Amino acid sequence: MNTYARHPVRIVRGRGCQLWDDTGKQYLDFVSGIAVCNLGHAHPEVSSALKEQADRLFHCSNLYEIPQQEAVAKLISGQAFPAEVFFCNSGAEANEGAIKLVRRYANLNGIRGPVIITAQNSFHGRTLATLAATAQDKYRAGFDPIPEGFRAVPFGDIEALAAAVTHEVGGIMLEPVQGEGGINIPPEGYFGKVRDLCSREGILLVLDEVQTGMARTGRFFGHQHEGITPDIMTLAKALGNGFPVGAVVARPEITRVLGPGSHASTFGGNPLAMAASLATLTVMLRDDIAAQARERGDYLMQRLEGLRKVHPALKDVRGRGLMVGAEFDADISFLPADGIRKGIMLNVIQNRILRFAPPLVISTQEIDRGLEIISGMLKEKGLS
Ligand SMILES: Cc1ncc(COP(=O)(O)O)c(C=O)c1O
Repeated sequence: MNTYARHPVRIVRGRGCQLWDDTGKQYLDFVSGIAVCNLGHAHPEVSSALKEQADRLFHCSNLYEIPQQEAVAKLISGQAFPAEVFFCNSGAEANEGAIKLVRRYANLNGIRGPVIITAQNSFHGRTLATLAATAQDKYRAGFDPIPEGFRAVPFGDIEALAAAVTHEVGGIMLEPVQGEGGINIPPEGYFGKVRDLCSREGILLVLDEVQTGMARTGRFFGHQHEGITPDIMTLAKALGNGFPVGAVVARPEITRVLGPGSHASTFGGNPLAMAASLATLTVMLRDDIAAQARERGDYLMQRLEGLRKVHPALKDVRGRGLMVGAEFDADISFLPADGIRKGIMLNVIQNRILRFAPPLVISTQEIDRGLEIISGMLKEKGLS
């Protein structure tokens, strides 16, 4: 179906931060499948784990024990907080699971028709409930009726959030840094206050870490910048370094409301997916990829700040780790297509924000080369 505005390029191979198309042309990847291939393309250890598992067993139903799930769940909760994990296949599916968990918990605690508060400009996925949670009209147009049970407030505004908490609220669902909404960083101390509000009011705090998770922001999870822990956290994107894996991670006091048969996913956490995840997480932790993301992200932002002198249309540089946005007060929507011609993959959101989400293993030389190409393209369009 014609649901994507695709560029006319066919990528057939990747290695680290490099991609090749079917004509042999090489590209520097500043997108990584939108924050997915955090360890770079075709990481040898992830590839060999997948190959080995593929020769043994692709799939096994969740009707039976899948020991690899326990290993991955232990790694996740070891880095995050004491938790139980439900595996699925995408970010939207993880968020659907989290929404169901909040509703079940609230219903069992006597809240009738529980509401989840989300933030304006959020992005939580494209299924119906996650569209309802996503407070951006452009994604919803023509899909009525949108499910009820969500209420949006401005991101980063603790007073607005507190004012929206009424007796029917069962949860608050937020991204630690808004990704699709424009790389929006919360004001300092915001999440600490959100955590206090949730604890005080007995409301579940759900953090959508689908994009911020697994080292992207320079910490293993985005919420670790805030010194808080959520009650529920959702993951996907980088969890299998490109193999589809999603997860709902929640404190055991909460997950006890879900008994056998209450939620399921045929493919969720199958042995092939878990082999990818286990190898991905093991390498990330062993090589301290979060520290690399922090260091390279600081370097990138510093270089971008320097470019503001050359390109006055570059108004703001913001980010955490290698989740970085460069906002222009000019239309820069030409960059992805021009970039392909020049051998670089770029992503622009809202026509004005150049979003950087390269593999976290990117080198400073690759950052320099990418910025040189970008700066050249901006000059060609008179944006200097
Ligand atoms: C924060 C966040 N949540 C959820 C999603 C949806 O994930 P998926 O496309 O895997 O369903 C995305 C995708 O961009 C995201 O950035």
